[in-house]
Amino acid sequence: MSEANKVQSTASTAALPHGEALLHDPLLNKGTAFTRAERDALGLRGLLPPHVHTMEEQVARVLDNHRNKNTDLERYIHLSSLQDRNETLFYRVVAEHIEELMPIIYTPTVGQACQQWGHLFRRARGLYISWEDRGRIAEALKNWPNPDVRVIVVTDGERILGLGDQGVGGMGIPVGKLSLYTACAGIDPATTLPVMLDVGTENEGYLKDPLYMGLRQRRVRGAEYDAFVAEFIEAVQQVFPKVLLQFEDFANLNAFRLLEQWRHRICTFNDDMQGTAAVTLAGLFSALRLTGGKLRDQKILFLGAGEAGVGIGDLIVSAMVDEGATVEEARKRCWFVDSQGLVVKSRQGLAEHKLHYAHDAAPAKDLLTAIEQLKPTALIGVSTVSRAFNQAVVEAMSRLNARPIVFALSNPTSKSECTAEEAYRWSKGQAIFASGSPFPPCVVEGKAFVPGQGNNSYIFPGVGLGVVASEAKHVTDRMFSAAARTLASLVLPTDLEMGRIYPALTRIREVSLAIGTAVAEMAFKEGLARAKKPADVAALVKATMWEPRYRTLA
Ligand code: NAI
Repeated sequence: MSEANKVQSTASTAALPHGEALLHDPLLNKGTAFTRAERDALGLRGLLPPHVHTMEEQVARVLDNHRNKNTDLERYIHLSSLQDRNETLFYRVVAEHIEELMPIIYTPTVGQACQQWGHLFRRARGLYISWEDRGRIAEALKNWPNPDVRVIVVTDGERILGLGDQGVGGMGIPVGKLSLYTACAGIDPATTLPVMLDVGTENEGYLKDPLYMGLRQRRVRGAEYDAFVAEFIEAVQQVFPKVLLQFEDFANLNAFRLLEQWRHRICTFNDDMQGTAAVTLAGLFSALRLTGGKLRDQKILFLGAGEAGVGIGDLIVSAMVDEGATVEEARKRCWFVDSQGLVVKSRQGLAEHKLHYAHDAAPAKDLLTAIEQLKPTALIGVSTVSRAFNQAVVEAMSRLNARPIVFALSNPTSKSECTAEEAYRWSKGQAIFASGSPFPPCVVEGKAFVPGQGNNSYIFPGVGLGVVASEAKHVTDRMFSAAARTLASLVLPTDLEMGRIYPALTRIREVSLAIGTAVAEMAFKEGLARAKKPADVAALVKATMWEPRYRTLA
């Protein structure tokens, strides 16, 4: 049981809000599940219908209402309202129906909610810190009721999913992502805080919309922007010293810079880069369970050398180094093809982030030539170019490898480098496939396949849990590699048989506990934990997990 849970279960009734105030406290409210003793002790007599319901009955009522809605956006609003009324019930419903509800509380439905934020608005959740609060950000943070915040997800709303600048509507992302931290890994919701940094928007539609809720100004840029973010980060360190600060959906330019600027100074990570990299690395480790090789002996060819590709490459290098390779040797096992062809040393004007991967080799104009030249064991698509893995490409990979590893990670589905069915068909059922967007099961060569999706939700909640439990000072690449190895180790032989290189999402809390333990172990090993090392790290992590069940209040 977490400290917060203990406090809740042992608090005397005098310290608790009573009557209407209790019904309006989403962390304590149980609605119709308040027992008769609680109703008497807490001033609730007459404020609720007489029958006392079990939590199971409440769950059934929520699901019934939920499924009767006509659109996913209505379902999103329904669940948000429940979260604002009764968080325990909200998390019980989500945790028990994660496959059905994750696409509602997070992508893709959350994207629609962000786009209509000002029109759907019912009640504020989290903190909105605007450019007008500069110089007084610590004061705003101190207005938050819980001084012991452990996880913040912050955005400035500039690059929300694939939807561009959503201004303050981007708040849907920190809210949704933190819900996943709790639902998937049991981060105590009382210790989470979604934050929107409003520095303006370039979205003309919002600037003209009378219901838009953010500042009506163009985005603040340059040194002023950096100073504003720095004031926020410093205020967070002062007000919430144990917090994990996760940046989310900042524009690429700011995301790279902020991560580099802050990752060695505070406890932070960028899920778009590091979470994606870890989930892909886990996919490779799972694939190696089928092919039998070691990571450090693989030759990996990327199509696309952007944020995702280079982020994955860097983590693979770090994991190969863990297996005994030098950084130089490891980098030489990662090759990139971008829009200009193979990234090689002789190419002029290569962007900074590609230089480590520009090796001595003959230039190759296209992917197929690069495959024939390099003979890779794995092909990873992060190019946003749909159909780039055509029949000739997959056949070439299959000729070179008994079990070719083919990951088509570009999102959304329309951008995927190939479909699952194509990868299986063109490789005669031999490809080990994963994708960024989900593909339905298919039958090829008489065999049924359930393709795996590299969903970041496998990784970031567990990493957050490990960081919170160990009170880690920083989040390191070695923690992400440990998370990836653990995720791969949890894939069952029956999953692999169906072609699925990730565990079923229904096992997410078990997965997050194992990842949290591996990350906390790593924090202790690297000397980064501020918590005292217990004899049993897994028990510490398990005790940190908040469970969505009602506490007895009287
Ligand atoms: P980016 O824009 O930073 O990089 C795209 C790269 O592809 C660039 O290097 C570009 O030169 C290259 N490219 C473009 N056209 C090409 C062509 N015709 N041939 C070869 N290369 C070409 O984008 P980012 O952020 O790296 O994302 C790439 C893709 O990966 C996106 O579709 C994104 O949705 C997906 N992604 C998937 C994730 C997952 O599966 N969990 C997570 C993050 C990203």
